[in-house]
Amino acid sequence: MAALSLGAEGIVMGTALMATEECPIHPNFKRALLEAEVSSTCLLLMSVKAPIRVFVNKPATEVLDMEVRCEPLEKMLPKMRGELGRQALETGELDAGIWACGQIAGLVKKIMPVRDFFQSVMEEAESIRRQWGIVTQPEADSEPVKVSGA
Ligand SMILES: Cc1cc2nc3c(=O)[nH]c(=O)nc-3n(C[C@H](O)[C@H](O)[C@H](O)COP(=O)(O)O)c2cc1C
Repeated sequence: MAALSLGAEGIVMGTALMATEECPIHPNFKRALLEAEVSSTCLLLMSVKAPIRVFVNKPATEVLDMEVRCEPLEKMLPKMRGELGRQALETGELDAGIWACGQIAGLVKKIMPVRDFFQSVMEEAESIRRQWGIVTQPEADSEPVKVSGA
């Protein structure tokens, strides 16, 4: 939102899209996102200078503990297998694997259709730009951005 408000033409978005109706993950994960707070994520693998932000759950806490104990990477990696995370997202078992999650999770308040989600993001960014006195000037040769189905 901040990037769009400042005039960025695009942003990378992951976590918030998991909380859309169309996202094919188990409803348990969508509920977890609704209940999440900003403190519900943590950084793993800081110890090897390859940090990834994940949802705080049982395996994530175990890996964090291993890092504190300076255990070797080879002992941590089996707990971090992407396959486990994927299975968790499918079965709905929140502690079955480690899953990537941004701090934006703390701001997820509603599961909505992806179309409405993008519309609200763009409207909010535009409203902030208006408050700041920034007027969006469409480029002469560009088509207005349309959300599919609108
Ligand atoms: C389901 C999911 C899977 C992800 N997988 C990867 C990945 O394989 N590699 C990676 O570098 N980042 C991965 N990420 C982290 C994204 O790069 C990160 O979420 C992105 O910067 C967008 O931030 P946001 O999730 O706060 O919107 C993943 C994020 C999510 C939500």
